Amino acid sequence: MRVPMIAGNWKMNTTVGEAIELVKAIRAELDRIDNVDMVLCPPFISLSAIGELIKGSSIKLGAQNLYFEEKGAYTGEVSSLMLAGLCEFVIVGHSERRQYFNETGEIVNNKVRAALKVGLTPILCIGERLEENEAGRTKEVVTEQLESSLAGIDCLGGLLIAYEPVWAIGTGRAASGEQASDTIGLIRRNVADLYSEKIGGEIRILYGGSVTAENAAEFMSQPEIDGALVGGASLKADQFLGIVKQTSEIKP
Ligand code: PGA
Repeated sequence: MRVPMIAGNWKMNTTVGEAIELVKAIRAELDRIDNVDMVLCPPFISLSAIGELIKGSSIKLGAQNLYFEEKGAYTGEVSSLMLAGLCEFVIVGHSERRQYFNETGEIVNNKVRAALKVGLTPILCIGERLEENEAGRTKEVVTEQLESSLAGIDCLGGLLIAYEPVWAIGTGRAASGEQASDTIGLIRRNVADLYSEKIGGEIRILYGGSVTAENAAEFMSQPEIDGALVGGASLKADQFLGIVKQTSEIKP
């Protein structure tokens, strides 16, 4: 039984004050939902304040990134040790980090290891670019990303995967439910081959890329899809609430 998850990736949006207002707007409504894991991933600087605000609620907290060294002379970076205790989840390998900050498979692998070592649950993002999709290389690309991200890692903890086709992120051009489900099925198969049938069956795999309250039902009605990583729409309380509520109704 895979509990669905809706995670909001706020990216580089919201001041601390704005983050607090957004959480206040969603908290009361989300408290009534108990069959969906709800995770907010605000900027680092708001984690502490939001952690206080959601105490006693069913909302969980995630970071958007981490550095793989535990401490030292790495100006501006935030480590796993700093996040442990502040949040439960951490997004790793988002395509924006791969694209704008040159994160390679090896870096992503080190970050997954660093997160797992301190008990943080990684939400590992993989997905193909438009030209790769058009060249029919989706399967090859996600398989390569999965294998390099998890190379040498024996125990996945509760690691989640987010399948996020790059061409669907922030573009308003979501994949179809069927397309997303097909690729997620393939990723699940890969995990089963790399680890075991049991782990393949248990791992939660989310879809991400232009999910909104308007199209959420299409994704959530696919049995392979265990939830969503939501960017733009997670910054609007009514949109995020709409996605969570539909997930709660559609997923048993
Ligand atoms: P989007 O972003 O929902 O704005 O497309 C998704 C993501 O990048 O995680």
